[in-house]
Amino acid sequence: MTRYDAVEAGSYRVAREISIEGLSSWRDAVAPYFVPGRTVLDLGAGTGLFVRAFTEWFPDVSVVAVEPSADMRSASGLPMLTGDACAIPVPDASVDVVWMSTVVHHVRDLAAAGVELRRVLRPGGVVVLRSLFRERHGGIGLFRFFPEAVRALSGFPTVTEVADGMGFAVRRLEAVPQVTAVSLADKASTLRQEADTLLRSLSAEEFERGRKRLLTAAAVETGPVVDHLDLLVLRTVGAV
Ligand SMILES: C[S@@+](CC[C@H](N)C(=O)[O-])C[C@H]1O[C@@H](n2cnc3c(N)ncnc32)[C@H](O)[C@@H]1O
Repeated sequence: MTRYDAVEAGSYRVAREISIEGLSSWRDAVAPYFVPGRTVLDLGAGTGLFVRAFTEWFPDVSVVAVEPSADMRSASGLPMLTGDACAIPVPDASVDVVWMSTVVHHVRDLAAAGVELRRVLRPGGVVVLRSLFRERHGGIGLFRFFPEAVRALSGFPTVTEVADGMGFAVRRLEAVPQVTAVSLADKASTLRQEADTLLRSLSAEEFERGRKRLLTAAAVETGPVVDHLDLLVLRTVGAV
């Protein structure tokens, strides 16, 4: 059983999935790699948010989804293969892009994952990550209400730890905005402590205090909630 079998997948969908429209900056950010005819592996595809987004944004790209949690696969309602970063059930040199969205902090053996990623990538292929990194968390608005959640960042790798640990070189690194919720009130209504690695680290009292701060702010701030996660593009060492 994975951690995401223990977390109810429905709870994950309510709390963590954001609208495809809210992700439009991500469409522009990844477009250079999602060239017609290419094959993208969505590794740790979860409830299929990006499988659906990529199918809509890039209809001429083939998307293969791999996900370790039976509950997440089932909640996605999409065809997904069973596997994880260290055991990817696709042939050697069969994908052009490996997409990993908010997954890499779950990977315990980065070196083994790196070997597996190089096995499945075609020559010139890239690993494209959407993630929070330990040293780069200024773009996450949740910390304003839940300052103690910063503790959970100790479990997140840095950019260098990911690149060096998996044995890849950094090709691109930048913060990409996303509309996480249409308003703080909407964010408050979908908040689920168990569905978010950052919030899970809080005590019940810390969570409740943060929820009250969020509700107080939501009463006066009505605009969309914009957060930033990082886009990290890795290439095989030595490739140009
Ligand atoms: C925060 S969710 C992200 C889901 C999806 N990528 C998204 O952005 O909506 C993390 C996902 O990574 C999966 N996961 C956990 N450990 C993994 C591993 N070692 N390899 C691949 N996926 C993993 C979990 O089962 C879960 O579905």
